[in-house]
Amino acid sequence: MIDAENLTKKFGNLTAVEDLTLHVDEGEVFGFLGPNGAGKTTTVRMLCCLISKTSGKAKIGDYEIGNSADQQKIRRIIGLLPENVGLYDDLSAYKNLDFYGRLYKCTKEQRRERIEYFLKMLGLWDKRNLSAGTFSKGMKQKLAIARALIHDPQVLFLDEPTASLDPEASKTVRDFILELKKEKRTIFLNTHLLDEAEKICDRVGILKTKLLAVGTPEKLRQSLWGRKTVVQLEHVNDAIVAAVKRVGPRNIEIVDNKLVIDVSNPEKENPDIVDAINAAGGRVQLVTEVSPTLEDVYLKLVRG
Ligand SMILES: Nc1ncnc2c1ncn2[C@@H]1O[C@H](COP(=O)(O)OP(=O)(O)O)[C@@H](O)[C@H]1O
Ligand SMILES: [Mg+2]
Repeated sequence: MIDAENLTKKFGNLTAVEDLTLHVDEGEVFGFLGPNGAGKTTTVRMLCCLISKTSGKAKIGDYEIGNSADQQKIRRIIGLLPENVGLYDDLSAYKNLDFYGRLYKCTKEQRRERIEYFLKMLGLWDKRNLSAGTFSKGMKQKLAIARALIHDPQVLFLDEPTASLDPEASKTVRDFILELKKEKRTIFLNTHLLDEAEKICDRVGILKTKLLAVGTPEKLRQSLWGRKTVVQLEHVNDAIVAAVKRVGPRNIEIVDNKLVIDVSNPEKENPDIVDAINAAGGRVQLVTEVSPTLEDVYLKLVRG
């Protein structure tokens, strides 16, 4: 649904996005992670035809960004929640949505139906006649997402949708994104919140001007971190460490009375490790596995 190939954006001497090659499937929730200044917003702005690309190419569905004939078609099939939500404070929630619906040339019937559907889904239906200016940040954000959806786009771009929301409002927004996912919409979500990405995204990409990694959170954790066995012992001594090393060359870290051992196939290696420890006079209390969080992987990549 979204295909980028060597997509690059330069602002003068500054390269904001470099050689981005990425594919997002129809119906997928894709998380685009990266620190401030990584190029997330710039990427979305290019994909939404709001700024021109410097080089490379990208397609939304069958349409090519940067091709003037396709631009209008892309605008019809995408919705965008930008970083800075602009709503008309003086207009009611309902009228805000109706106004955008008319901009997108939705029929009266479509507007009526969709506005009711989304406002009900977001728990804002009872507040439809209140002006948007009276809304809390969370309510405004939900209204802005509904606005991005008013023309029923196939692809929805959300740029940091929960930034500056309190935990409860963040959760409502996340739940709403999961509801949208059920409707088979493709969702491209910029975020710097790792737990958010882990909770709602099928796959994530980690960007820092260049795309550093892409995959399911699970795959990224495994492939970039490897697996580690933790053996907690009554006591650790040099003989025990040497014995474990003899079972196979590996990195061993000693943390208090624990050995943290790099393994490639723990199901096969752990029994030998335990045998070696026993033979060296060690007493095993606990064998566990450390699972890195997405944050561990992210920090390793972004700092590295
Ligand atoms: N219109 C612009 N003119 C010049 N530099 C820009 C412009 N927009 C973004 N940048 C720069 O491009 C880089 C990427 O910014 P951005 O895409 O906003 O990152 P993110 O959304 O990941 O925080 C930053 O260094 C930013 O200062
Ligand atoms: Mg941004």
